[in-house]
Amino acid sequence: MTRVILDCDPGIDDTYALIYLAALNHAGRIELDCVTTSAGNVDAQQCARNAAWVLTQCGLRTIPLAAGLPGPLKLPLTTTPETHGDTGLGYVTAPERHVEHDWDLLWIDSIERGTEDLHLIVTGPATNLAAFARLHPEHFAKLEHITVMGGAVNYPGNTTPTAEWNFWVDPHAAQEVFTAAHTPITLCPLNTTEQMVLEPERLEMIVEKLGPTPIAEDLKEITRFYFEFHEDVGEGYRAQIHDLLTVLVALGDVATSDCLATIDVEPTSELTRGTVVADLRGMWEREPNARVITGAEIAKAWEAFERACATHSDFFSGDAALAAGYHRKAED
Ligand code: BDR
Ligand code: CA
Repeated sequence: MTRVILDCDPGIDDTYALIYLAALNHAGRIELDCVTTSAGNVDAQQCARNAAWVLTQCGLRTIPLAAGLPGPLKLPLTTTPETHGDTGLGYVTAPERHVEHDWDLLWIDSIERGTEDLHLIVTGPATNLAAFARLHPEHFAKLEHITVMGGAVNYPGNTTPTAEWNFWVDPHAAQEVFTAAHTPITLCPLNTTEQMVLEPERLEMIVEKLGPTPIAEDLKEITRFYFEFHEDVGEGYRAQIHDLLTVLVALGDVATSDCLATIDVEPTSELTRGTVVADLRGMWEREPNARVITGAEIAKAWEAFERACATHSDFFSGDAALAAGYHRKAED
């Protein structure tokens, strides 16, 4: 069985990634081993509260969950309330809750159960992954399937002319992770994730497919904020759902094109902080450390997500949700 560790910073597009993984967990296609959070869109504790609440609204109250490191390896933390709202979920606020901090122990537990089918997916800054490689090199070395959302490869950035947000927030972490890579890491850069565009009509359909799933009630208000942000920056009243596509790619649920490359990340220069430099021709004579996703079948990706939403609806219409104590809540 495929098992997943998600390290995320919800975050509106991270929320869609959580909804997808929760549905696959209900369907028995994956086991969501644990969810940890990085500091990025909002601080790591708030991200953990958000992730816990989103999972609860998706029928998964008991997934091990912890907040990761409070900020980037070397730079002060910058968050982006203008993109994801003050608390990271647009116009919705998750309830307060206690947050655990044993994130690396959760990863170790998961790794010790075996790594052949274990996927580590990072949809926030790579801070925790870089720290894990430093703190637990023997466990890091066992990870065979790592997928990271970040970077813009020979492509305009969304934060500076050349840098993507996750890599810009913690460029040292991104650099360290690719330096430490023992096998090519799957990199979902902005080049491809920007194509995963959600339009209001599709959101209507998604909410309908989610049916009685508690998250359905709030998804419109969460996403409205993201639509408005994209409109404000000239992208139109729609939204790029980067992290959902990243999860689909990681699990092989969408066809992609890719290329092997050796990448490095510029950590310090004021103008080029977080910029990916990619050797696509082997000119550095270094082993490839990245499988760069260069394209994906976006229409199929949305179809897969819509099927996942229908799985949620089935879960909440049936006995499984009742057994988990959910019906009373939905009927209140
Ligand atoms: C990335 O930045 C964040 O704001 C999103 O959640 C996504 O992971 C896109 O650049
Ligand atoms: Ca994210």
